[in-house]
Amino acid sequence: MSLTTFAFPTRLLFGPGAIRELPAHLDRLGIRRPLVVTDPGLIETEAFRALTAVLGPAGCNQQWFLFGQVHPNPVEDDVRLAARLLRESGGDGVIAFGGGSALDAGKAARLLARRPDFPLARFYEQEADWSDLVPLVAIPTTAGTGSEVGRSSVITLEATRRKAVLFHPELLARLVILDPELTVELPPRLTAATGADALTHCIESFTCPVFHPMCDGIALEGIRLIVDALPRAFRHGRDLEARGHMLVAAAMGGVAFQKDLGVVHSLAHPLSTLGGLHHGLANALCLVAGMKFCAARRPGLYRRVGGACGLELGDCTEAEADRRTIEFVQRFLADLGLSGRLREHGVRPDQLDALTEQAWEDPCHRTNAVPVTREDLRALYLEVL
Ligand SMILES: NC(=O)c1ccc[n+]([C@@H]2O[C@H](COP(=O)([O-])OP(=O)(O)OC[C@H]3O[C@@H](n4cnc5c(N)ncnc54)[C@H](O)[C@@H]3O)[C@@H](O)[C@H]2O)c1
Ligand SMILES: [Zn+2]
Repeated sequence: MSLTTFAFPTRLLFGPGAIRELPAHLDRLGIRRPLVVTDPGLIETEAFRALTAVLGPAGCNQQWFLFGQVHPNPVEDDVRLAARLLRESGGDGVIAFGGGSALDAGKAARLLARRPDFPLARFYEQEADWSDLVPLVAIPTTAGTGSEVGRSSVITLEATRRKAVLFHPELLARLVILDPELTVELPPRLTAATGADALTHCIESFTCPVFHPMCDGIALEGIRLIVDALPRAFRHGRDLEARGHMLVAAAMGGVAFQKDLGVVHSLAHPLSTLGGLHHGLANALCLVAGMKFCAARRPGLYRRVGGACGLELGDCTEAEADRRTIEFVQRFLADLGLSGRLREHGVRPDQLDALTEQAWEDPCHRTNAVPVTREDLRALYLEVL
């Protein structure tokens, strides 16, 4: 048996109004001149006004600075520009505020603020000491990616035009604030799509064949919370309990996928870079096909997932337990408006080869519940196209 490290180190501050504790925590962390990294959509929201209310007006006493230009599915330039501002403003910390896009850009900006010429495309080949990064406070405003508790940052690189997962323990946040009041304005469509991302993280990490019973327990409880809270948050955006449970469940999904993910994420990543789909939507459109693919090769894989969804599967055969669980997930997503074929979302059949190529190079499928070939990826795309 090989040696394994189990680590759950992130401090999470949870509850409505938690954002108001931010100044005290910045003091505690020694952050006096933070750079706020966010996206243009958020700047218009009440959530952003709540942040500025606790930080005080920017540009006035120049205690904090703003980079507000992060793209959805962030690109290398977002990271470079934020890093430059962090350096030039003499920033001593980053507050990443937003969905996964803003969080990932904020996390990675700390790398290039330290080493401006570092080639992100060679992140894993070129040795570097990242122990001197400025501290990060992560404040998610979507309940989906779990990036706030993760050690990775997903950035589309210029050289390859593909999503690269930059993974390093020093990318972890020193504090995460989970404040459900910041998510109440998230529109139903994005609430559903980001929630489906969290659900996919929990399902794929639970079924990923790595020995990590702590993550498995967290993934199952995450599924239970999502099944209960996501439909409520979708229909009643101001339901603070549902919003809060979704924020915690998304963070649990992020913790659980320390184990790793699976084939659905490999299918989803190229759909964002080549098809422009939102990451959560891309997962939602591929999840059922991915589950059927895995269940056909490993019957019974989803029995405990079904149990976490509230299904009584005690007397069922393995195949029956999988079938009922997959049907439940399919109906659950459809009720959230997450259905349809890829071509209804703008993906073209002539993109099939390029999608397959990128999915094959994506690392997630290598930790899938069952082995995946290039032909399997192509067949899965064809099934959902
Ligand atoms: N690092 C990780 O571990 C990890 C995991 C999964 C996904 N990701 C990445 O995260 C990104 C997707 O993140 P996302 O799904 O959170 O979407 P997003 O960050 O791209 O945000 C989507 C939209 O929602 C808006 N928005 C966010 N919060 C809002 C709020 N409270 N009210 C109103 N509008 C709001 C934003 O302005 C944006 O237009 C992708 O790039 C994906 O690859 C990273
Ligand atoms: Zn995801």
